[in-house]
Amino acid sequence: MKSATLILWLWSLAATTTAATDPDTGLIVAPGLDAVKTNCTVCHSARLISQTRADREGWLTMIQWMQKTQNLWPLGPNEPIILDYLATNYAPEATGRRANLPPELMPKAAP
Ligand code: HEC
Repeated sequence: MKSATLILWLWSLAATTTAATDPDTGLIVAPGLDAVKTNCTVCHSARLISQTRADREGWLTMIQWMQKTQNLWPLGPNEPIILDYLATNYAPEATGRRANLPPELMPKAAP
């Protein structure tokens, strides 16, 4: 009984923390995936995308670089859809709160 409970708990944990991925590309299944598959997996593997993290501005910079230097076509109305997808699903990893201050930097107790 105990191990069945543990397995259920692990399963629910995995189900809530692991996003479903597209079997063709390994990209996270979310709104905008189709536009990304159509426009972004033509010249290179989708792994180049899934291994990259950036905010919306960073993704836009990469897209503009590909447009200037790699003949990436104008994305038109798909551009905001693609940027939303990328900035939402491939955002920089959250770093959480800053590290604790070392003791020597902590305020001194009042004398
Ligand atoms: C016309 C071809 C082409 C298309 C279409 C294309 N790319 Fe690229 N992309 C490239 C080339 C070429 C590179 C450089 C590859 C390398 O360095 O091996 C690249 C590099 C990248 C990189 C790595 C950038 C870095 O700084 O490491 C990412 C991320 C990327 N592309 C994402 C995308 C996304 C998102 C799309 C869809 C909007 C897209 N690509 C569509 C040609 C393209």
